[in-house]
Amino acid sequence: MDRPVIDHRGPEFAKLSLEVLEGLRAVFQTTSPVVIYPASGTGAWEASIVNTLSPGDRVLMFETGQFAHLWRQVAERLGLQIEYVPGNWRRGADPAEVEARLAADEDHAFKAVMVVHNETSTGVTSRIAEIRRAMNRASHPALLIVDTISSLGSMDYRHDEWEVDVTVAGSQKGLMLPPGMSFNAISDKALVANLSAKMRRSYWDWQEMLKPNQAGFFPFTPATNLLYGLREALLMLNEEGLPIVFRRHSRHAEATRAAVRAWGLEVVCEDPREYSSSLTAVLMPEGHNADRLRSIILDNFDMSLGAGLGKLAGKVFRIGHLGSFNDLLLAGTLSGIEMGLRLAGVPHKSRGVMAAIDCLAPSSVKSEPAVVAR
Ligand SMILES: Cc1ncc(COP(=O)(O)O)c(C=O)c1O
Repeated sequence: MDRPVIDHRGPEFAKLSLEVLEGLRAVFQTTSPVVIYPASGTGAWEASIVNTLSPGDRVLMFETGQFAHLWRQVAERLGLQIEYVPGNWRRGADPAEVEARLAADEDHAFKAVMVVHNETSTGVTSRIAEIRRAMNRASHPALLIVDTISSLGSMDYRHDEWEVDVTVAGSQKGLMLPPGMSFNAISDKALVANLSAKMRRSYWDWQEMLKPNQAGFFPFTPATNLLYGLREALLMLNEEGLPIVFRRHSRHAEATRAAVRAWGLEVVCEDPREYSSSLTAVLMPEGHNADRLRSIILDNFDMSLGAGLGKLAGKVFRIGHLGSFNDLLLAGTLSGIEMGLRLAGVPHKSRGVMAAIDCLAPSSVKSEPAVVAR
């Protein structure tokens, strides 16, 4: 990315952006258009709403964690009426609940179902394919809008097959880039909704973006250097192969959970069907503060664990294992945590790291090469 900025109205730029706009579709598993905003993920949240809905529209959202809470705030400020299904922050959106609420909505007042695929605050996923099936069983025409900010490029996610209407994503997680770029993948149905959506929009307007994108241009100054990085990230994902990328992440998540269990600690996620492959949130034992542990680990090992967010502040620490990550990085991460647990005097059993290593390199497997991330 550390290269000169080129003229964003010139032919070299058009080649770059056509390449990344096309390459991105494979990561979303879609043939539909994907638009790129020079904005953090919150901007793409806003774009998904203002392009498809009208003030006063009813939407169905689920309390899965801090990011669902923040997205709800965006939706509220933009004038939507939100039915917010309560949750305990340890489970994903329940497909049965989606079906029941939509089936009861005979007048089709709900215009969208909005779900966070991977709750970065809890390490819990929502089962989007099942939610889509539930919506179809209820024969409800609501749009399905999904936040994949911490899952895209790390976990299997199928925009087309799961009939998602708008997928929201960001640059800074599975795409291995710095923050500052975000995305909307847009179904045909969402494009139709866009034509009658009455929310005010200018910067975020898909139509303003889609027209110049056809020739490889943007309606405003693009984040050129991040696009250089995106081109490289797409090459890396393609080179390794998405199914192998997903397997690498699920292997690392499994090894992390093995360590947590061996320490005698508890992961936040209650349902094994909803385990996240990109991060694991861990509950502290009663009476012990996660932020104290995090600061001891930062001071001693220069490793920064994720903080508990919102109502989990101080109660939870989060282990990220997404993006460009390999077995040794995970073993180092878990070693830092195990040493930190000792230094902080947090009650735990030792040998969590060994449990993870047993998972990563089971002695019964005969020299099968480890999956290596570049
Ligand atoms: C699931 C999820 N949604 C939305 C956001 C907000 O994105 P940003 O902070 O890039 O604006 C984040 C940020 O981490 C996230 O993890």
